[in-house]
Amino acid sequence: MTTSTADTPDLRFRVMAGGQLAGRLRVPGDKSISHRSVMLGSLAAGHTEVSGFLEGEDSLATLAAFRAMGVQISGPDAGKVHIKGVGLHGLQAPAAALNLGNSGTSMRLMSGLLAGQAFSTTLTGDVSLSSRPMQRVVGPLTTMGAQIEASTAGTAPLVIHGAATLIGIDYDMPVASAQVKSCLLLAGLYARGQTCVSEPATTRDHTERMLAGMGYPVQRSGNRVCIEGGHSLRGIAIDIPADISSAAFFLVGASLAPGSELLLAHVGMNPTRTGIIDILRRMGADIHVMNERDVGGEPVADLRVQSAPLHGIDIPPQLVPLAIDEFPVIFIAAACAQGRTVLSGAGELRVKESDRIQVMADGLQTLGIAAQPTPDGLIIDGGVIGGGRVDSHGDHRIAMAFSIAALRAQGEIEISNCANVNTSFPGFVELASQAGLKITATREQVG
Ligand code: S3P
Repeated sequence: MTTSTADTPDLRFRVMAGGQLAGRLRVPGDKSISHRSVMLGSLAAGHTEVSGFLEGEDSLATLAAFRAMGVQISGPDAGKVHIKGVGLHGLQAPAAALNLGNSGTSMRLMSGLLAGQAFSTTLTGDVSLSSRPMQRVVGPLTTMGAQIEASTAGTAPLVIHGAATLIGIDYDMPVASAQVKSCLLLAGLYARGQTCVSEPATTRDHTERMLAGMGYPVQRSGNRVCIEGGHSLRGIAIDIPADISSAAFFLVGASLAPGSELLLAHVGMNPTRTGIIDILRRMGADIHVMNERDVGGEPVADLRVQSAPLHGIDIPPQLVPLAIDEFPVIFIAAACAQGRTVLSGAGELRVKESDRIQVMADGLQTLGIAAQPTPDGLIIDGGVIGGGRVDSHGDHRIAMAFSIAALRAQGEIEISNCANVNTSFPGFVELASQAGLKITATREQVG
């Protein structure tokens, strides 16, 4: 999705070829956990103290939405957020539509909990979010008794009518989606009886962990999770680890750039998120997991990564949902690996912040790499990355992935439409430069 117009200057990254990564870094807080800390902290009785909160546009959109519904939230101040919970029935009608920007997690999760409120809400987003599929949450929520209007294409804006009576359902998700699962569990807090969700493959379980951590009973068995309406949440302290999805850019960069050695501190290692480590190790990466510990119900570790020769692999399908946000940078690893990498079973990548299969294939081809898109994946033959100009289509992870590619490129890589990097990784340019990437950001007039 192109976000710049003739009158807004485009944020571009210019990355000089070559270099290596070194040092000790702590990347910003986990985006998924940051969203959930605000949502569940707001619905809890008592105070929730958050540290390590991601001060990116997506999680800030969630924070602003809960403030607009009457929740007193102070911060973020150096990652600290204090939430005065209002209890499950304490939210107030917002004065206007809630604009969730680029954030699919905000819109999908909030649809569930807003379906259970006494008041109506309208959820809007930017051009990218307004084209993403919402029927996947509207459908099952409607079965639970919610009243939601979407566009005829099943997209935002969503109008969620209040005062609906929700009834628990037993839902078999057709796609492996943590956002859909979480949406239905949050609606289940307000539903009569039990709400159960079965997933076709394991997806991130931060919602279940945080609910349980706040004292809400959650039953899990195998691929099925159930929740019963009518219990309550209590405020807690939440220490959010560094986001493994942000660490991924550095895991790949240090693997690719000869002579690199990086230590990534305090990284979230929830087993539903560590597919990136498994995939890179299968490709030959040298990643050491150190100081494994438990931080408030989420596993955390420090990661040491050193450069290593990578080879192409067939990516096992069960790892796809465990690395779903990391494919843009995994494709860069594949482009620098010896031989062929094949990804299939990843059609979901076509409905992320951009069509990540097509946009990555286009960019890789521009840089001289053979990248063949398929309906649900990509086939990449490792080769020599040239220089050139690529368009991130306003997709934060694509902008950062092509920045990392410069470490092994023959010439400078220029990336357009990079402003949305702030949705998940504020300070990327500074942190990446500090580690050794030769990156600068410039604002340029379009047209
Ligand atoms: C997320 C779930 C994933 C992921 C997104 C964050 C979450 O989306 O891509 O960035 O926090 O639940 P899907 O549920 O659509 O796979």
